[in-house]
Amino acid sequence: MAIRKLVSSEHEVLREKASVIKTITRPIIVLLDDMVETMCYYEGLGLAAPQLGIPRRAIVVNLGEGETLKLINPEILESDGEVVEVEGCLSLPGVLGEVPRAENIVVEALNGNNNTFKMNATGLLARIIQHEIDHLQGVLFVDRARRMLDPEEIEAKGENI
Ligand code: CO
Repeated sequence: MAIRKLVSSEHEVLREKASVIKTITRPIIVLLDDMVETMCYYEGLGLAAPQLGIPRRAIVVNLGEGETLKLINPEILESDGEVVEVEGCLSLPGVLGEVPRAENIVVEALNGNNNTFKMNATGLLARIIQHEIDHLQGVLFVDRARRMLDPEEIEAKGENI
């Protein structure tokens, strides 16, 4: 595994639609492992492949306490409720905003073993998954933010999704 470089906030890959992963090849497995390592290194709550310059539909999520989740070609099947919380992004350092997200989602994806799985997520986990899937559409949290935080409001507590 290796820590990879995050592309800069200006990189056009962050605005591209990522492509579906049709075959889980060895390089895709390595990519997912590297995404996990990179996310943990930067203490992010999640990471999407485009953030490493790779426009493919893969995301990873940090569940805390060393637990992580890999989702290939994730799709949100159902969503309900709305919660507004402060969000940030590893690709946009130094900015935070209040972003509305669905409170509950059902997501379907492939795991690294090429098995389809479905999961329910709520609260923060649902938020992270929605944020990362947005990255696969070239959407950044600033596009959805109702309000950006003032510099005085931005303290070290900001989480990096
Ligand atoms: Co992000």
